[in-house]
Amino acid sequence: MSIKPIGDTLVPMTTLDQLYAPIADDLAIVEDTLSLVAQSDFLPLEAMLNQVLSRGGKRLRPAISLLCGGFGDYDADTQIPLAASIELLHTATLVHDDVIDSADTRRGHVTANATFGNPASVMLGDYMFAHAAELVARTGHIGVIRLFADTLMVMAKGELAQDVSAFDADSGTMRDYYRRIHGKTASLFATAGAGGAMMSACDAQTIDSLREYGRSIGMAFQIVDDILDFCGTEEQLGKPVGGDLSAGTLTLPAIVLMEDNPDDNPINRFLDAREENGRGEFLDQALEAARQPSIVERCMETVEQWRNRGLDALHAAPTNGPREQLTAIAEFVTQRDF
Ligand code: IPE
Ligand code: IPE
Ligand code: MG
Ligand code: MG
Repeated sequence: MSIKPIGDTLVPMTTLDQLYAPIADDLAIVEDTLSLVAQSDFLPLEAMLNQVLSRGGKRLRPAISLLCGGFGDYDADTQIPLAASIELLHTATLVHDDVIDSADTRRGHVTANATFGNPASVMLGDYMFAHAAELVARTGHIGVIRLFADTLMVMAKGELAQDVSAFDADSGTMRDYYRRIHGKTASLFATAGAGGAMMSACDAQTIDSLREYGRSIGMAFQIVDDILDFCGTEEQLGKPVGGDLSAGTLTLPAIVLMEDNPDDNPINRFLDAREENGRGEFLDQALEAARQPSIVERCMETVEQWRNRGLDALHAAPTNGPREQLTAIAEFVTQRDF
């Protein structure tokens, strides 16, 4: 299915190429930087790096970082390594995430874990984290280097929080959910916004506005991802879908269902039945219930609220920056179906 926007569309849906047009040249150098990262004198490592780094991806986080750099004194020599480091950090988390989820497909291609196995993929991810740190260190900006390290800690905690709360009905609250998705996803979007602005020496208020913009659209982004896990297809997304609930991960559609019927609902029945025979039947019922249009619409209203919060933060940033492109990215995040 294609997720439709709820409420007024602020700008028409555009392609990513159109959105990235003002930063296309520097984004191309980010790609070149990532190609260099994929080179190694250790050929098995080079083969693995090539597999995970040459398969595209939406490049949303480096685009946000470069655009937010446009609010201040933009210097490509530091903005580009920062943007490349953010994308490399993101891709490393995906390599590890696919190990955790036993996923076979990512970005429409076979995953590292499916090709090289779990142990090698864990080390590949570690190597990429370290290389991302090396790239951010090239900027020489101690505040941004610290931000990078803090973000990686927050993300690891978010993924861990998800892992330890699997199949735990008590973790099915909005508060816990927001905390988890802030950690694993929105924190890096926040860092893309704040990092780009810090690198170009913006004032503290502008940095805070762009951090809040990134954080809010990162929350919207992950909620859409979680809806698509119920409603999308592997062809559309280039990765397996339908796995969140079966892995015991409680995301917004499941939480809305649970909150609607606190005493008895298909999610709790699935969680309770998981060890018994017939668990598959409970899963199917729970998936079907969470895909109901009324549930999806309510989740999309939440997406819209986060998007609006991001746009409010953006409007507090100075008018000299690329607010139009960042507004369009907020729309893309809300409406995306891939
Ligand atoms: C996937 O992120 C992981 C989530 C936070 C849901 P993206 O959907 O941005 O992944 P790529 O980089 O475009 O493949
Ligand atoms: C995002 O969550 C994972 C990271 C931030 C690493 P998901 O587990 O939903 O990501 P996908 O759906 O596998 O891309
Ligand atoms: Mg996953
Ligand atoms: Mg997902």
